[in-house]
Amino acid sequence: MIEYRNLRIALLGAGSVGAQVASLLIEHGTELGERVGAGLELVGIAVRDLKAARTADLPEHLFTTDAESLILGADIVIELIGGIEPARTYLELALNSGADVITANKALLATHGPELFEIAEQVGAQLYYEAAVGGAIPIIRPLRDSLAGDRVRRILGIVNGTTNYILDRMDVEGDTLEEALAEAQRLGYAESDPAADVEGYDAAQKAAILASLAFHTTVPLDSVYREGILAITSEQVAAARRSGFVVKLLAICERLTDPVTGVEGVSARVHPALVPDTHPLAAVHGANNAVFLEAEAAGSLMFYGAGAGGVQTASAVLGDVVSAARRHVIGGPGVAESTRADIPILPISSVSTRYRITLEVADKPGVLARVATLFSEHGVSVEAVRQDARPDGASPTATLVIGTHEATESALAATVAALGATDVVSAVSSVLRVEGL
Ligand code: HSE
Repeated sequence: MIEYRNLRIALLGAGSVGAQVASLLIEHGTELGERVGAGLELVGIAVRDLKAARTADLPEHLFTTDAESLILGADIVIELIGGIEPARTYLELALNSGADVITANKALLATHGPELFEIAEQVGAQLYYEAAVGGAIPIIRPLRDSLAGDRVRRILGIVNGTTNYILDRMDVEGDTLEEALAEAQRLGYAESDPAADVEGYDAAQKAAILASLAFHTTVPLDSVYREGILAITSEQVAAARRSGFVVKLLAICERLTDPVTGVEGVSARVHPALVPDTHPLAAVHGANNAVFLEAEAAGSLMFYGAGAGGVQTASAVLGDVVSAARRHVIGGPGVAESTRADIPILPISSVSTRYRITLEVADKPGVLARVATLFSEHGVSVEAVRQDARPDGASPTATLVIGTHEATESALAATVAALGATDVVSAVSSVLRVEGL
């Protein structure tokens, strides 16, 4: 019988993911150890409250409130507490003590990732975070390893399951946003503070992480443009469906060139967008996540699956445990995070995309010409116009839906402002970006 070295694993946090990680490690530890060539021993679980209810039945003797001592005696530390503090202090302590660290903490990585990666590099430890984006979906390792020899041009990600669930219900069931959000909360999808989901903060953190990794450059969270889904109405979703689109909250990370300055850089943004109903992302239903990626050599790839859930996310954490344990067995420093490209980060105003604008106008001679002139005066080229006339008392009105060719955000914003100010337009009822064409 082979005598394995024993690797000591410390778990911080026993919430829905932590409890599943502990349970799976206890149940499958021997099998996972054989894949590694080392014993994997869960030596303790640090929690704030020893009496709190758990979603798995775990041995009481593993629990402790003394996180520091647990960390200092471990080869691998798994952080599943979430939030900035005390997670950040614990991770720094773990890295500085030479342990490899595994975390699912998107907020911490998006705000303090560069400092943590630097410590990891200095001490020769590894920082793994497959579970931080897309739950069970392997996306961090493909970006870090499989695509490290390619050049990623663009990522379109559905990275927040709650908002995808809400928008999907509005589309499929005809729910209002409020009804769909209430249902998402009832099912336990939404974060405790729903603003993290519906205002796009959660997706923005994930966009910062994906963009940094994809473009090998640090993309700070505060450079990620963010719009949530609160302004999306069931009418917009239904109108989009009638025109062959679905509304999705997308995290978009791309290489681009500013059309005015010619500066080449990268940008990351999160906002609702119209996606053609034939695009693979349009088929992502419910609370699922998907990351659609375009790379120069590989072409288009899509990664799809459960973006949250205790046991699903635990799968990604355990994959990291196996990777970290293998490195311990092989020895040598971990692979450093590659953020040395130092590419300029461009603001949303550098982005060019297509738009669909819905206007309520007076239905009388010259109105269409006036509207078309405003687009042309701002250098925005109209691709398609649809008019639905409806009698409205004495003065008939019409709904105009205008699709544009690619235009800059600044040209579009100026056009929308001019449309809002002209007397022939009674309302600019919707402006949505179109992605994935
Ligand atoms: N609230 C997140 C979501 C959980 O809805 O996707 C996973 O980060």
